[in-house]
Amino acid sequence: MNYRHAFHVGNHADVLKHAVLLFCLEALRRKPAPFAVLDTHAGRGLYDLGGAEAERSPEWRDGIGRIWDWPAPPPLVARYLAAVRGFNQDGALRVYPGSPALATTQLREQDVLMACELHPEEHAALRRALPRQPNVQVHARDGWEALGALSPPPQRRGLVAIDPPYEAPDELAKAARALGPALKRFGHGAYLWWRPLKSESALAAADDEARAQGAKDTLRADLWVDRPQAEGRLVGSSVLLINPPYGLEEELRDALPFLAEALTKGRPGWRLEQR
Ligand SMILES: C[S@@+](CC[C@H](N)C(=O)[O-])C[C@H]1O[C@@H](n2cnc3c(N)ncnc32)[C@H](O)[C@@H]1O
Repeated sequence: MNYRHAFHVGNHADVLKHAVLLFCLEALRRKPAPFAVLDTHAGRGLYDLGGAEAERSPEWRDGIGRIWDWPAPPPLVARYLAAVRGFNQDGALRVYPGSPALATTQLREQDVLMACELHPEEHAALRRALPRQPNVQVHARDGWEALGALSPPPQRRGLVAIDPPYEAPDELAKAARALGPALKRFGHGAYLWWRPLKSESALAAADDEARAQGAKDTLRADLWVDRPQAEGRLVGSSVLLINPPYGLEEELRDALPFLAEALTKGRPGWRLEQR
């Protein structure tokens, strides 16, 4: 486990993933019934943009840094920026909240976050980063194992966020297969599965596998900011939503062209596909 999210935090992939995450959480809040969020690969929660890792690889400058002061961004982006502003009260972007930190901003008393992080240092940092309250649960636990073991949540409604580091070459296929047991137990849950956009054929195979595992109602959103790089640098990412909340497709259709243009490094593009 060498991956450290601090080197990539706030980049174009985080912008897409976290904007979609916040839409999903807002959608869950439309009903008073409690919901659960299972974050299988949570990271350290809060990232210091002036810290050594973010300084060495300041990907956030070409990510959230480019849209931080944008006057009137589309609603999907405005909601995301407002949530990040909550962690930067004086208006300067210094701290970036990862997925579990963003999730805590949307929890009501009756809702629960279960955040899994296996790396000991990242896990310890996550414990320090998240508010100490009974409905925020931090597990030093394998996210793949938790995906089966913690589904369905007692609340019987909620969101599962799957965001592994893709260090192992088979992690895309592994993630697609891991959806099977989770969907069997929690078939009506919403799932947000982030994937790197490196090989279109590998992603298409992963989508097919997800469908074979029981993913029926899906929405795929891709965003890339440049043409593929020979050295494999990440220039795009894809989120697959299973059981996407109502209204997300429309907000993404509005936001993706905006993000592609705002974050471009040469050859931007986007794709949205509902199946
Ligand atoms: C891409 S980062 C997560 C970023 C986070 N979801 C966010 O959006 O802010 C992936 C994280 O998964 C952790 N990790 C790797 N393998 C894991 C496993 N099997 N179970 C749980 N966490 C794992 C890594 O230490 C890393 O912090």
